[in-house]
Amino acid sequence: MFPNSIVRTRTGLYRLYSTLKAQHVEINGVKYTTNPKICNVTDSIINLTDKALHLKESHPVGILRDLIEKKLNSIDKSFKTFNNFRPVVTTMENFDSLGFPKDHPGRSKSDTYYINETHLLRTHTSAHELECFQRIKNNIDGSKAGFLISADVYRRDEIDKTHYPVFHQMEGATIWKRTEAKDGSKEPTHIVKIRDDIKSVEDQLKKENVKITVSDDTLPLKEDNPKQEYMTDLEVDLCSQHLKRSIELVVSEVFNKKITSMVESKSNDIPKQLKVRWINAYFPWTAPSWEIEVWWQGEWLELCGCGLIRQDVLLKAGYKPSETIGWAFGLGLDRIAMLLFEIPDIRLLWTSDERFLKQFSKGSISSFKPYSKHPGSFRDVAFWLPMDKPDVHQVHENDLMEIIRNIAGDLVESVKLVDDFTHPKTGRKSLCYRINYQSMDRNLTNAEVNALQDTVCSKLVEEYGVRLR
Ligand code: DAH
Repeated sequence: MFPNSIVRTRTGLYRLYSTLKAQHVEINGVKYTTNPKICNVTDSIINLTDKALHLKESHPVGILRDLIEKKLNSIDKSFKTFNNFRPVVTTMENFDSLGFPKDHPGRSKSDTYYINETHLLRTHTSAHELECFQRIKNNIDGSKAGFLISADVYRRDEIDKTHYPVFHQMEGATIWKRTEAKDGSKEPTHIVKIRDDIKSVEDQLKKENVKITVSDDTLPLKEDNPKQEYMTDLEVDLCSQHLKRSIELVVSEVFNKKITSMVESKSNDIPKQLKVRWINAYFPWTAPSWEIEVWWQGEWLELCGCGLIRQDVLLKAGYKPSETIGWAFGLGLDRIAMLLFEIPDIRLLWTSDERFLKQFSKGSISSFKPYSKHPGSFRDVAFWLPMDKPDVHQVHENDLMEIIRNIAGDLVESVKLVDDFTHPKTGRKSLCYRINYQSMDRNLTNAEVNALQDTVCSKLVEEYGVRLR
């Protein structure tokens, strides 16, 4: 957020609308009618919608996706993979089907790319959960079924080395069909089955070279992260064990691969121990919910959110009440890929430079070797916010990021607020942002940078009604 909201004048507002008045946008060959008052997708974002990096088998994101899919399916192949969902989804799929409240901040235009009232670029792979639960419905007759979805997801965000408006997630879920206890047997068959399934994951975990140390103080469950009524205590206990061991298996696999590659390249500070911890979380479509974090190079890294699927989601997918129990998770692939492959700037994932792409090959974790370093060129933009017209809309910092990104694309490395000043007498507010223009592939000329900066400045004046200082 801007430290204080930018107030946009009426004229500024109307101008903004007029720049976005295109009636249609075409995404993956499909034409959508836009609502110019809502539409905030830009050409630079649309250009990224057909890149499908997660499907490129020799790209860090694709290699990581493949590694996790293989590991999770190494036990009983119960996960059906869905990797071709297109990024335009409905607000129903992205939010409503998952129980997001109407006023959830994730729905706001400052965070999400909207095409019109009903269509947007998915902000997470959970948008496809309902459909995938429907599509695996027939597989569950054999008592257990699951899916993995990998896709590009879109969020309006700041600009720096670790943030990009498009990144990749993998979503996973497992469900079991509930059964009644048969005469004479002590436990219903699905309970016996889940116990067996836990044992199989634990056996896999034991095979990993460096064992993980897990700390979990989320148990026993408390009121702020409660179980669902329709599940028994035993079911909650077993489902969560299966979920947690499965995620630990993924983390263990990924970080063990990394450690092996560090040993091979005789790297310094190879961790002797892998520490992870479970913490409580909240997601509208799972209860209880958790997150897992891993201790890596001196800090806790958030890796993945997960939980036991709310019955409501399963009912919406057409399952009978109380027929099914299970879990779901969602994890971001890009940051893990950057860590595994030692990629210092997230923009590199999107480059078509062969010097980057040639360094990676299917199935192998290698460390990226920077091919050259091109100097950055800093430019400041300082402006007074308009004071007039208190009734007009607020503008989010992400809007400013979007303007810069749309003009400079991947030539902008970072944008930082460096000054925030309020005039003591007039109460007028001024902000200064420092933009670092830096290409990953070549040197930029001064003239080129100046031209970009001039365009950024005039666009800010035009769209926000700011006064440059
Ligand atoms: N969609 C969530 C996000 O983007 C991640 C997530 C959390 C997915 C919990 C899940 C889940 O399926 O159960 O932050």
